[in-house]
Amino acid sequence: MLSPRTHRLRIIARVVAGAVAMYAIAWVSGFPRTYDDDELPSDAQRKKAEPTHTPHHVEVDQIVVAINTHASDAYEKVPRMLLLTNTIYHDTLVLLGDLEMDIGAFHVHDVLDRFEMDFLSTQPDLERYRAQLEAARFSLDLRSLKELDPRKEVETMNKLDKYKYLRMLERAWELRPDRAWYVFVDMDTFLVRSNLMAWLGEYDAEDPIFFVNPPNAESPDPFGIGGTTFVLSHTAMRNFIAEREIISKWESSIADSASGIDILSSAITTELGIVSNMSWPAISGFNPYTIPYGPGLWCEEVVALHSVPPELATDIWRLQRDREEYQHIHDPLTFADLWIRFLQHENLSQPRDEWDNLSSGSDNAKWNILFERVEGDEEGKASRGEGSWEECRDSCNTNQHCVQFSYSSIAMPNFNENEETRCHLSSSMRLGRYVGSHRIGGGGGEGTWKSGWRKDKFEHWARNQRCKTQQNK
Ligand SMILES: *[C@@H]1O[C@H](CO)[C@@H](O)[C@H](O)[C@H]1NC(C)=O
Ligand SMILES: *[C@@H]1O[C@H](CO)[C@@H](O)[C@H](O)[C@H]1NC(C)=O
Ligand SMILES: *[C@@H]1O[C@H](CO)[C@@H](O)[C@H](O)[C@H]1NC(C)=O
Repeated sequence: MLSPRTHRLRIIARVVAGAVAMYAIAWVSGFPRTYDDDELPSDAQRKKAEPTHTPHHVEVDQIVVAINTHASDAYEKVPRMLLLTNTIYHDTLVLLGDLEMDIGAFHVHDVLDRFEMDFLSTQPDLERYRAQLEAARFSLDLRSLKELDPRKEVETMNKLDKYKYLRMLERAWELRPDRAWYVFVDMDTFLVRSNLMAWLGEYDAEDPIFFVNPPNAESPDPFGIGGTTFVLSHTAMRNFIAEREIISKWESSIADSASGIDILSSAITTELGIVSNMSWPAISGFNPYTIPYGPGLWCEEVVALHSVPPELATDIWRLQRDREEYQHIHDPLTFADLWIRFLQHENLSQPRDEWDNLSSGSDNAKWNILFERVEGDEEGKASRGEGSWEECRDSCNTNQHCVQFSYSSIAMPNFNENEETRCHLSSSMRLGRYVGSHRIGGGGGEGTWKSGWRKDKFEHWARNQRCKTQQNK
């Protein structure tokens, strides 16, 4: 037995250690500290960032999260997603898909089963659907139906999605009628639930609201970004359901439309007069390694990320748990927090070979820096760095906005007024990933990318940001 005195001393020591740890956490999470005036978000956005009570507080059971599943990988992805969804949210989930399935305690609803038999058995786009029904009937492995070429598989899934989206709305309402919000996500979407609740709480579900990713002209190449999340308010959903004939009316346009989200947006806008609302950057097509970190989104809250690989999803989940449960941080998770967790520890002092072309993609167009002698205002342009990766790096090093370059061994589009170029400069920082040597460009040549960062410069900028919610620490 410990004497009461030793016992007391131990408690004091623990209290002191705890206080030191809390101080260290507060200090670390207090980074970054100041904010450039011209980069301050608008007043409206700043108000939104405050973790105070929201005007239209939403209860957990007033949100429906409908997950669009695909039969060929649902057994693999659904359990993974459930593991990373706090059990208090399990009742909000509705699993929709293209085959009736049971995954543990969860049922997946086939939303295609109400099309006419004739249509289902003849529509060429639905070939996979027919194969799935057949496979299920004979207990065949559904994975064996997948295309070997991942791009073809994506195309096949996109075809099915076109027929699923409007039906998903119908089924979600049927299964969970009259809720305040209906959130539709993919299996690779990571939802930051606490931020989602706070974000939706800013809006009145009795207004007809349709948030859709990708949402607005401000986001880069809106339809070039992968991943789809859309959110409908109670009123928007009710209006949709009330117009009984919408689904049948739009059925004939499906085959000619480009994607599920296309047909859905057109139907909602045309029939209900609801124009899509802004959700950038709360909902974006990015994951922590593809987010273009920089001004504009740094202090913003993260609600949904897309195409999140399983290991990253696990890391974000752990980050959230550590913040909320162990560090008792109640500020919303921001893009700055993701940078600190996922990029700060990376050693980016050396350029990386065979590294993703992240400064060049169409989704980076907004941040790609123009070269001198390209039309437009002259401020902030970079010198050309076509000759070699060193030249490209030097061009980045001498440009005031550049924090990252990628050099491609053959000229590639830059998705702006720069013509095709080998040197791609960016004012945002993204990590990307190892890609190896592969065919790049329309010519089908074998090419490689080399990417480099100016992390010191970026960190200097980051330290000078002051996010509203982090000021009061
Ligand atoms: C949504 O968009 C519509 C049309 O642009 C607009 O009238 C409405 O105020 C927006 N609502 C919100 C909550 O942003
Ligand atoms: C970063 O990597 C480079 C070589 O790749 C190495 O020389 C340098 O010491 C590393 N820096 C740190 C802080 O580890
Ligand atoms: C970038 O690389 C990816 C593969 O990692 C490729 O699919 C894409 O077409 C490339 N983008 C450009 C602009 O070259």
